[in-house]
Amino acid sequence: MFLSFTIDYHKLGNGGPDGELGASLRYLSQRFAQTDKSGIALLTDIGTEELGHLEMVGSIVTQLTKGEGAKSFDRYGVGDYYIDHANGVYPASAAGVPFSAAYLQSKADPIADIMEDMAAEQKARATYDNILRISDDPDVTNIIRYLREREVVHFQRFGELLDKLQSKIK
Ligand SMILES: [Fe+2]
Repeated sequence: MFLSFTIDYHKLGNGGPDGELGASLRYLSQRFAQTDKSGIALLTDIGTEELGHLEMVGSIVTQLTKGEGAKSFDRYGVGDYYIDHANGVYPASAAGVPFSAAYLQSKADPIADIMEDMAAEQKARATYDNILRISDDPDVTNIIRYLREREVVHFQRFGELLDKLQSKIK
């Protein structure tokens, strides 16, 4: 069932600036500089959960393109992707830009890092909102809605940690 809806191979943006790969690497890098034990645990937990989300998005893309060839990709405007990757899952943004660690920071400053993480969760949520405006396939949108909800929960958990960190320095 190749692209029976309006979303295309790229638009899930698995390796984009606000995608799941960047989220997982951001948190699993920053965890080492957290001073609070619950902060280390939170970043580790959410970082590994985001890797699980990366797998989910890769699975969606794989199912959507299973058995499809170059002509199908070209017909739906993603022939360039096919030339570089065929049916493979490659971490790139919705615009086709390959993943870069420049999308994330690790400042060895617990408060600066958590503030970045809260913004990252909101940007991920907004990206999923954008995907939901494009996709009309329930097999995709149901999963994207779930992933969107998780970003909201992560934002809340990081907010709780920020409150805890700030209360320590007052
Ligand atoms: Fe998240």
